Amino acid sequence: MKVVLVGYMASGKSSIGKLLAKDLNVEFIDLDEYIEEDLQKSIATIFSEKGEIYFRKIEHEMLQRVLNEKEAFVLSTGGGTPCYGTNMDTILEKADHSIYLQLSVSTLVDRIQSEKHTRPLVSAIDDEDIPEFVGKHLFERRQYYSKAQHSLDCNEKLIDTLVTQIKELL
Ligand code: S3P
Repeated sequence: MKVVLVGYMASGKSSIGKLLAKDLNVEFIDLDEYIEEDLQKSIATIFSEKGEIYFRKIEHEMLQRVLNEKEAFVLSTGGGTPCYGTNMDTILEKADHSIYLQLSVSTLVDRIQSEKHTRPLVSAIDDEDIPEFVGKHLFERRQYYSKAQHSLDCNEKLIDTLVTQIKELL
């Protein structure tokens, strides 16, 4: 079974994906980590050395590779993965299940402010400007995330509850 999780930065894709994969007894793949291992560089370094356009090209290639070459997995995508090129259409075509992990702007802002340094898109933004950035950015990206087969409201729910609810959707 091929399960793909999509959603904004800090929406819990990796932590939920890890638990879900364990429960389903399939491989867990974090697309960012997959890219980092392949290129032997952190996402932040790829952005700073080669820029975002290069990152998006590699992200697209790695997404194709995972979806085409692997049979059973839970894939946690990067927050921007479904929003570029034909990526979301490819996810819909190749995955058995795609799930949008939905969280309120205020929760995303709280999480992003505390984990800013690992995320090149927000690391240079002042904390006080993060709410406006996330609000606008999520508004632009929501149209892609919402194409996923299922949307799951993740607000104020424990991770175990979320994993159970996802399993019910599969
Ligand atoms: C990005 C999100 C990041 C990572 C890169 C770009 C984005 O992944 O792919 O920094 O465009 O939203 P996370 O969603 O895991 O933070």
